[in-house]
Amino acid sequence: MTISDPSVRSPRVTAYADARAVLDHPLLVPEPAGAAAGAADPPVGSLAWLRASVARFTGDPQAHARRRARAEAGLAGLDPRDLRQAAAGSPVGADDRHTVVRLLAEELGLPDPDAVAEAVVTVCAGYFGEELDPARAQAADEAVASLLARTTRPARPARPARPAGKDGTDGTDGTDGTDGTEAAAQRIGLLVQACDATARLVEHARRAAPNGLPPGGADVLLAEVLRQDPPVTVLRRRTLADARVGGLDLRAGEVVLVDVAAAAPDAPADGAPDGPAPLAFGAGPHRCPGRAQAVALAAGLLERDDPAAQVTGAVARALDLAATWTAWDGRPLAVDDRVHTPHKAIRRIADHLVDHLAELEARLAGREPQPDHWHASATTTPADLAPFTAEDLDEARSRLVRLGHVWADRLGSLSDAQLDRSPGRGWSFRLLAAHVAGSLDYYAGAVGRPGAAAGPEGRE
Ligand code: HEM
Repeated sequence: MTISDPSVRSPRVTAYADARAVLDHPLLVPEPAGAAAGAADPPVGSLAWLRASVARFTGDPQAHARRRARAEAGLAGLDPRDLRQAAAGSPVGADDRHTVVRLLAEELGLPDPDAVAEAVVTVCAGYFGEELDPARAQAADEAVASLLARTTRPARPARPARPAGKDGTDGTDGTDGTDGTEAAAQRIGLLVQACDATARLVEHARRAAPNGLPPGGADVLLAEVLRQDPPVTVLRRRTLADARVGGLDLRAGEVVLVDVAAAAPDAPADGAPDGPAPLAFGAGPHRCPGRAQAVALAAGLLERDDPAAQVTGAVARALDLAATWTAWDGRPLAVDDRVHTPHKAIRRIADHLVDHLAELEARLAGREPQPDHWHASATTTPADLAPFTAEDLDEARSRLVRLGHVWADRLGSLSDAQLDRSPGRGWSFRLLAAHVAGSLDYYAGAVGRPGAAAGPEGRE
């Protein structure tokens, strides 16, 4: 999010307490809301209309709450795990901004996600108030108009199995409420907000780890990058009336800048904080509602570069959990309408690795993969219910580590073209690897750590 006109005379807040006071204060509203609102009745479907309509730049508390609730309802349909897997399986080579928006548009069920992504990238150029030459300004207006047409009413439910009200829409059909176009503006707003910031987080992470992911994986790297090198560095507020805020005396109309990286709380006495910069996703009423989705997309894009590591990493995580299963009390766990046990998790993990490897090999050999006759997790066999012993763990480790290596060797032998434009029918091999890794996390997480809170543990 670049600031087009960073006034040197604007106070720049670097103390955490002052930054929180600024971001929490109702008389300090995001810029360029004023400029956008100042343009009398911008034509619906123009860039000025978008900026005047999204939660992001809405100062009035009531209107902001209404618009933000719509944005949050749209986000509720965007499962971070699905986004991470989709990003990890997406083809290399495209602009990350385009991929981020395309994946979000797909999950939202919008028609023609590629065209949506192209339009959003065009809109981003002027969304934060940047000066555009007439040709780019016209292109941005046309892009907003095309997005309005595509988002006024989703073409299809985002995903068939979503619970009611979590289908990526805001619970309206775009024609109810105070203003149907306002609902569409929030959907466009989600995409535009996600575009630059998420791609920039990925860029900063690649810069921080040019040789690939560190041992802790994408989550550890992203937490570090969000703390050291946040993608959004400045938050801008305009003062509506004279006010004393934190240690600042502000005059009506004055613009104040919050320095995100500098405004961190004091390190605790026993060492440096290890979480993201507390303001990397903002604070107060306008704090980012898309944080989980942003981190999931960024993590998936980083993992995409090394599909072999996705599979071996998932095997290692599953075995890490399996090491605790010798303490299992023998009671099957119910997760997502299915029964789970340690032996069943190991069975499913091994079968999943074998099944998709067989599919991949068949497609490479130009054969049709075997038809699917697995009973998978729908069946629970007597063997699934047996105690999980130290010997079982040893055997599982030997089996799964070897299977992981076969996968890694095979994936490592394929070019990007083979991974992304894979032979035969079905998912690309890169997406297959991401799917296998996600499934391993799912089955192992469904059993979790005996004694820990129930429910899938997996990765966020
Ligand atoms: C690394 C990626 C991202 C970063 C660093 C980021 C950061 C931020 C920050 C700092 C704000 C607050 C701005 C302010 O107070 O002036 C914000 C607002 C917002 N973000 Fe994000 N964001 C990211 C990704 C996303 C994604 C993926 C989405 C949606 C899918 C999203 C949706 C929004 C929305 C709708 C707002 C406006 C909220 C409001 O005004 O109530 N962001 N973001």
